[in-house]
Amino acid sequence: MFQSPLPLLAFLAWRAVGRGRNFAKFRGWGIGRLVLLTPCVTRCYLARGMQDALALRIMRRALELAMRGRGRTSPNPMVGAVLAKDGTIVGEGYHARVGGPHAEIVALDAAAEGARGATLYVTLEPCCHMGRTPPCTEAILRSGVAKVIAAVEDPNPAVCGQGIARLRDAGVAVEVGLCDAEARALNAAFFTWVTLGRPLGILKAGMSLDGKIATRTGDARWITGEPARRRAHQMRAEADAILIGVETALRDDPLLTAREAPAPRQPLRIVADSQARLPLRQQLARTACEVPTVVATTPGAPGDRVAALQAAGVEVLVVDGPGPRLDLKALAGALAKRDITSVLIEGGGTLHAAALEAGIVDRVALFVAPSSWGGGRRCPCWGASAPPPSRRPGD
Ligand SMILES: NC(=O)c1ccc[n+]([C@@H]2O[C@H](COP(=O)([O-])OP(=O)(O)OC[C@H]3O[C@@H](n4cnc5c(N)ncnc54)[C@H](OP(=O)(O)O)[C@@H]3O)[C@@H](O)[C@H]2O)c1
Repeated sequence: MFQSPLPLLAFLAWRAVGRGRNFAKFRGWGIGRLVLLTPCVTRCYLARGMQDALALRIMRRALELAMRGRGRTSPNPMVGAVLAKDGTIVGEGYHARVGGPHAEIVALDAAAEGARGATLYVTLEPCCHMGRTPPCTEAILRSGVAKVIAAVEDPNPAVCGQGIARLRDAGVAVEVGLCDAEARALNAAFFTWVTLGRPLGILKAGMSLDGKIATRTGDARWITGEPARRRAHQMRAEADAILIGVETALRDDPLLTAREAPAPRQPLRIVADSQARLPLRQQLARTACEVPTVVATTPGAPGDRVAALQAAGVEVLVVDGPGPRLDLKALAGALAKRDITSVLIEGGGTLHAAALEAGIVDRVALFVAPSSWGGGRRCPCWGASAPPPSRRPGD
């Protein structure tokens, strides 16, 4: 893939020089060949380099297009596609929403007849199966596209190299791996969901310089400034779900919606609550009919609490596990089965520590305020908060 002709040409040049050195009578020939070959090598190398640079620029454009689907395509990946012929873009598109046409189809439609003989740059291997939409490979073959450059193979077992094989079998040249790392990073949630059977876990917290996520009185609001808040809301808008511990629900009474960012849909709000303690007066329960809300609990949760939450419109998800507390790993698996590909874990410290220990955290986003709150072992970013001095045993 993208092999340079340089080694071959360098070898020929070396042979030419070698002949000149070993056999005096060929010296003229050797030097002559070298003189002839040098501009040829340079031209080939430059042409190849320019071709690679162009391919890179076009694939980056396809990645840029893919990002336009952010927050709209889950559980599908974000995908962008560009059709180019003789260095000119003849069509482009992206997967705009789940159930909508795939990026390749949008680009092919935009290019129409221009697709014939063109190269298709696509950020993910084209699908070859009947999903919500027909297989893209067949549309590519019908269009007369000559070559496909895919950034990365689709990990979905229904595709997983078969799209590439179908195109190659039909005589289309296929290259895979250009901007592979960027394409994987773009769809980290999709890759995690498909390959690990759980959502991508993003732990997000606002904390002070000394690692506290709330003041010693337990107040966690306004830790960081306005830009951090906007970014946090953006992260919510891009996530499929938000997970908090029940103590955070009790102390902060949060709404957990993406209010300060354009959000095509609100993420599912989930409270880790082994005993279904979430009070009905909390905002999460009161707004459950407008924004989907789940209390993830254990089989040991009191039946009357479960019934009361359900009557208020809260979905109660009972997750079985070995201990008395909610099994976070099992919860992650249950969420993946519901097509949740990413979860923003928004605390508090007890839940953070448990999530890290359960191995369901892939990324950590910390917004650090330039202040120090002291308070000993109260409200750490990870780990249970020590009880206030007055409540310590023996006091
Ligand atoms: N600055 C920030 O970004 C930020 C964000 C969020 C919260 N906070 C602050 O953090 C503080 C609350 O933190 P916290 O540590 O006391 O409580 P927390 O982490 O919010 O909630 C802990 C509770 O979650 C429940 N839970 C369910 N499954 C669990 C599991 N597998 N492992 C551990 N816990 C599980 C437990 O109650 P059950 O046993 O009853 O299930 C546990 O007591 C508040 O002051 C809040 O303001 C700050």
